[in-house]
Amino acid sequence: MNKKKRIIVLFTALICFIAAELYAQKDISLKEVFKDYFLIGTAVNHFQLSGNDTLAVSIVKDQFNTVTAENELKWEPVHPRLNVYNFEPADLFVEFGKKNNMFMVGHTLLWHNQTPAWVFKNDQGESADRETLLKRMHEHIQKVAGRYKAQINGWDVVNEALDEDGTLRQSQWMKIIGEDYIAKAFQYANEADPEAELYYNDFSLENKPKRDGAVRLIKKLQSQGIKIDGVGLQGHYKMDWPSAAQLDSTIKEFAAIGIKVMITELDIDVLPYKDISAEITLTMDNQDKYDPYKNGLPDSAQKSLAERYSDLFKVLVQNKNTVDRVTFWGVTDKESWLNYWPIPGRKNYPLLFDREGKPKQAFDAVVKTSKIN
Ligand code: GLA
Repeated sequence: MNKKKRIIVLFTALICFIAAELYAQKDISLKEVFKDYFLIGTAVNHFQLSGNDTLAVSIVKDQFNTVTAENELKWEPVHPRLNVYNFEPADLFVEFGKKNNMFMVGHTLLWHNQTPAWVFKNDQGESADRETLLKRMHEHIQKVAGRYKAQINGWDVVNEALDEDGTLRQSQWMKIIGEDYIAKAFQYANEADPEAELYYNDFSLENKPKRDGAVRLIKKLQSQGIKIDGVGLQGHYKMDWPSAAQLDSTIKEFAAIGIKVMITELDIDVLPYKDISAEITLTMDNQDKYDPYKNGLPDSAQKSLAERYSDLFKVLVQNKNTVDRVTFWGVTDKESWLNYWPIPGRKNYPLLFDREGKPKQAFDAVVKTSKIN
């Protein structure tokens, strides 16, 4: 072979290699990678369910085997007024899950947010009494969980019932009904769909005082013979919180009380955050200061995010016998709620797929963790 031919052959081989690499990368699917470990999924929104965001939908189908309704099953959208239910968006969610053969999570039967004010009022517009609210709660759970019986596989029955110190949050549910509102909600959910898994879901359970509160709450339900299958750690993480060790001990503590653990709303906030709660009115200057990656995430920050995801996923993989499911809170960076909270209009990068739907370095880092065992 003369020199020219050799160069052509080598060049062709190189092109084939690159093409194969690119193809292989495109072909990597999280649900395949983690199939022996845990379910892996995402929250889906109305834009996706109504078929408008086809890019995100194709990622969901390729990558995930479980979906959670981001908003469709919260009280406000599904039961906006007394005796008025709007099931259309939630029906789309269930159709989507069925069609794609996915484990479906209903989020959420009871929460203090995204619940209309009328729920807690009587006919005179005053605070409802315990009996009225219990009846309302019962009917809501019967109607919603009952409608999707044997279709939705698991329910976040109660969301965020605890304060940071581990005591029960003084929500309207708590104030009007008393602390047994939690037990009642689980009983009603079990009655509406005996086969569905039932979860308690909250954030910051990685912090000891709140985690202790959740352990007390779950043990109490267990001692009353009430069905509770799992605890959801929301997983709205920061670059420096929680530590891998904190996540590990949290998972192990819940495992020790015989309960499944899931990460239910995973994302990692890369924007400056800590000082924000002290900012009451933000000026343009402050906006700039808190929105450093308006023009894209620099490579060094991509790398740090990838390392952070890797550290946390290593813990999840090491605890694969306890961790039942890992769900991201959104598909691509574009639609993440962290672009709007706590300051609207910033550019955040908390997920594994970028705004064009391409896998980020964090995606590769997560995939690599599957090989550590
Ligand atoms: C909480 C809720 C979610 C969602 C996020 C923000 O974590 O559980 O339903 O509202 O806040 O998007």
